[in-house]
Amino acid sequence: MTATPPVTPEPLPWLEELPPRQIVAELDRYIVGQGAAKKAIAIAIRNRWRRSQAPEGIRDEITPSNIILIGPTGVGKTEIARRLARLAGAPFVKVEASKFTEVGYVGRDVESMVRDLVDAAISLVRAEREDEVWPHAEERATERLLDLLLPAAAAEDVDPALKERRKASRAKLKQQLIDGKLDDREVDIEVTPMNYPNPDSMQPPGGMEGPESAFTDWLMDMLPKKKKRRSAKVPEARRILEDEELRKLVDMDETVNEALDRVENHGIIFIDEIDKIAGERNTTGPDVSREGVQRDLLPVVEGSTVQTRYGYVRTDHILFVAAGAFHVSKPSDLIPELQGRFPIRVELEPLTEKDFVRILTEPENALTKQYSALVAAEKCKLDFTADAIDEIARTAWIANDRMENIGARRLHTVMSALVEDLLFDLPDGSERTITITAEDVKQRLASVVQNDDLRKYIL
Ligand SMILES: Nc1ncnc2c1ncn2[C@@H]1O[C@H](COP(=O)(O)OP(=O)(O)OP(=O)(O)O)[C@@H](O)[C@H]1O
Ligand SMILES: [Mg+2]
Repeated sequence: MTATPPVTPEPLPWLEELPPRQIVAELDRYIVGQGAAKKAIAIAIRNRWRRSQAPEGIRDEITPSNIILIGPTGVGKTEIARRLARLAGAPFVKVEASKFTEVGYVGRDVESMVRDLVDAAISLVRAEREDEVWPHAEERATERLLDLLLPAAAAEDVDPALKERRKASRAKLKQQLIDGKLDDREVDIEVTPMNYPNPDSMQPPGGMEGPESAFTDWLMDMLPKKKKRRSAKVPEARRILEDEELRKLVDMDETVNEALDRVENHGIIFIDEIDKIAGERNTTGPDVSREGVQRDLLPVVEGSTVQTRYGYVRTDHILFVAAGAFHVSKPSDLIPELQGRFPIRVELEPLTEKDFVRILTEPENALTKQYSALVAAEKCKLDFTADAIDEIARTAWIANDRMENIGARRLHTVMSALVEDLLFDLPDGSERTITITAEDVKQRLASVVQNDDLRKYIL
């Protein structure tokens, strides 16, 4: 279904139009440290733009600098992908390598990542186009609403005075409509009943993906459907009409063409957990299909043509970023051809206790900011002293050291243990500032930290 009003509040900058330093600065807003990884990604992204400026002859020769990110658990690999997804402005998908199976086996084949990317591009371009035509759609919806609100005057054409009056009252009504003064009025409107596709009944033909794409929704909406007349309040009627107008104003063919072009020249596929398909060699069982998945991946990463339901897509210039912890396997356990497709290897650093302090406070989505926002909903202000932050970081560090090292993920568990009681007790009828001190942290987490069993379960 179309989101109305359009989703993007402000147009995002195209990441690839920014100089690499600025791309890094964008990532810095959310990810602490990992400078080497950010740098490699920034260069690879900017190279997309540089390539688009290059003369045609050489343009096809410039292949993307695919990257493989290697680093321990919880240091920001997947988080980088999440941020790229929001920032890229280019079609982006993140897939988990472990979800794929070799062609011929039950499961997702690797080419589906390209189809997903096309879906993402269609949503992206469609949202952009809808943003562009939005004022127009809004205006047209308003006029149609006015038609519904003003009973037609049969004598309109013959009586100029009546025509004038009608014009005046329409103008007045329009103002009232815009001011929301008619929100309680009902109008008769043709609506298409919501229909929820039955997933079983509409599996697309072989090789095609399931029905859950934005574009399927769109296609469903385009199909002629039985309309029903019913009355609706003005705000609802407005939404329905705006939606219809948006649909009429956005050219579907143009959207598809643009989306396919974006995929081919600017698309980014992030393959997470690539270490999971790097089985040890010469093993039997499931590992055989791991190597199969790698072999299936090869042509996609190297450049091939994938059939999607909107047309063929060449993958030659799609940028691939892979990531893996490589606890058990090593990058060299990937088949050599695949290793060759990821020429840029970047190691992510283990995080330090100092990094933890920064992660807790600096990113725009920092945990302390998230919890403060939750508490603010209960009309209280949540503050952490600098000592408290240090203590949280230290606790997480100790827990990582004594148990399994799960990196910054530990901060989530420590924080949630810390604020659990508070979140349970609020609202307590007061509007106050709650300051968490180092003493509070020690007190609340002491029992957990000292007790081995508790530590295992709670942190
Ligand atoms: N460098 C970082 N800056 C900010 N937050 C981070 C950083 N690294 C990790 N985090 C936090 O820790 C959580 C887990 O990190 P992430 O999912 O990126 O781990 P990962 O490196 O992908 O590990 P795994 O190999 O286990 O998948 C993130 O959701 C984020 O909140
Ligand atoms: Mg991860």
